[in-house]
Amino acid sequence: MDFAVSSDLDTVSPAGEREEPVSTPVKLKARGIAASLVERVPDVVARPLATPPAGSGLEPVIGDSGVPLVGHTLGFLHNGLAHARRYYERFGTVFWVDVLGTRLVQVLGPEGLETVLTNRDGAFSNKKGWDHFIGAFFNRGVMLMDFDEHRHHRRIMQQAFKRERLVAYLDKMNPAIERGIARWRPESRFELYRATKQLTLDIATEVFVGAELGAEANRLNRAFIDCVTGGQALIRADVPGGKWHRGLASRRLLEHYFRSQIPAKRASGADDLFSVLCHAETEDGERFSDVDIVNHMIFTMMAAHDTSTITVAMMGYYLARHPDWQERVREESRALGKTAIGYDDLDSLPSIDLVFRETLRLNAPVGMVAREAIKDTEIDGRFIPKGTRLMLSIYPTQRMEPWWKDPDTFDPDRFSEPRREDAWHKYAWTPFGGGVHKCIGMHFGGMEVKAIMHQLLLRNSWRVPARYETVIDYGTGPFPGDGLPIELRPR
Ligand code: HEM
Repeated sequence: MDFAVSSDLDTVSPAGEREEPVSTPVKLKARGIAASLVERVPDVVARPLATPPAGSGLEPVIGDSGVPLVGHTLGFLHNGLAHARRYYERFGTVFWVDVLGTRLVQVLGPEGLETVLTNRDGAFSNKKGWDHFIGAFFNRGVMLMDFDEHRHHRRIMQQAFKRERLVAYLDKMNPAIERGIARWRPESRFELYRATKQLTLDIATEVFVGAELGAEANRLNRAFIDCVTGGQALIRADVPGGKWHRGLASRRLLEHYFRSQIPAKRASGADDLFSVLCHAETEDGERFSDVDIVNHMIFTMMAAHDTSTITVAMMGYYLARHPDWQERVREESRALGKTAIGYDDLDSLPSIDLVFRETLRLNAPVGMVAREAIKDTEIDGRFIPKGTRLMLSIYPTQRMEPWWKDPDTFDPDRFSEPRREDAWHKYAWTPFGGGVHKCIGMHFGGMEVKAIMHQLLLRNSWRVPARYETVIDYGTGPFPGDGLPIELRPR
């Protein structure tokens, strides 16, 4: 198995102490068993997706539909990496599968990612690609727009991510981080992922919404979580009690909340993201309407939340498994001599940057990126007919041999000079995507993750049992499904 499911055996620390057993959550165990049963079903006969036009010189995309009704959904959700590796062995960099109620062409490798992300001949639509998965909850978010309309919205939104804005967000963020981490009580089983989720939500409420929300914060936070999980529902219909249904109700709640706040935000000169979007204006005088602001707030908070949470938690995980690295990054933070970092300090923490990059390589939070072909085209010499749904496999690409050496090994120095193992291809390391839809919050995300890690390193140290490996579950990408228990100690 490529991705470890933690064992139920007792573990022994390097010091020889008995340690707490670590167990796999029941839901994940059940899905793992179901996935492995399904995997035992003999391979369904592979067949072409479509016949390439005569004389085009293109090959067809080959794949198979998997088990009736569920297709490959179980294998995909349980261990997307192993699944991608197996299909790469069978069919190469471009293949089709039936997953999450739809037929998808999966694209692996930097060449294919570059073709689709740069979209030079305008053959790929973001809107049509993402709509099936998250359209119901994140409609009219900038990632779900195409071409001229996308360019228009992105230009206005860019105003909210300029350097001077980031400096102000970081100043707002630092006290929220301090308050949040101060509430973390050292204990032998501290769930880092769950605690980080709460911390980043609290930061988002202050820095994005700019409100002292009090009791309302929990309601809004819950609504965000429901919208995000709605997109991952297996039953993708408005059935009362289901995830999809809860997601839709939450979307309405968020719309109502943001709409009701716009007049006050338009009147204020505050420096939270919500106020900034209300005032954002390009040099040509383009601005957002009220409806746009609501849509962009909901989408941006979603885009920022899970991604930063997973990155912080997984950095913590790798630093727990590699105490030498934990000490190395802590030493740099100590040497800075500041309890919180400012924007200009980011360049003074090179080791934390190496760990950040390596974590995003090993565990890309946006593991898959969706597109749809809106005209006949080709990827890696394979014929892609109009109407094909595509999944760009960022996470597997960053974890596979042809493109990375020792891809499962945590080795942050691979990003340092002179090794620079990412430099051989512009799209080998793509956790933030590429082309015109490249993550607009890339610097914001990096800054938030490093600001949290800096404060945590100064306040606490942490470790995990010697044989512990987190249990990976899949949402927007891989995340620690067991809550990531660590032993948190004061410093
Ligand atoms: C480590 C953290 C993050 C990762 C790994 C990440 C990853 C990504 C990826 C892969 C895309 C491209 C999707 C596509 O091409 O369809 C994207 C787009 C986007 N991200 Fe992030 N993101 C992160 C943090 C953030 C943050 C903190 C924000 C906001 C503050 C943000 C806002 C956005 C937005 C608005 C888009 C859509 C851009 C467009 O379509 O023009 N992201 N992100």
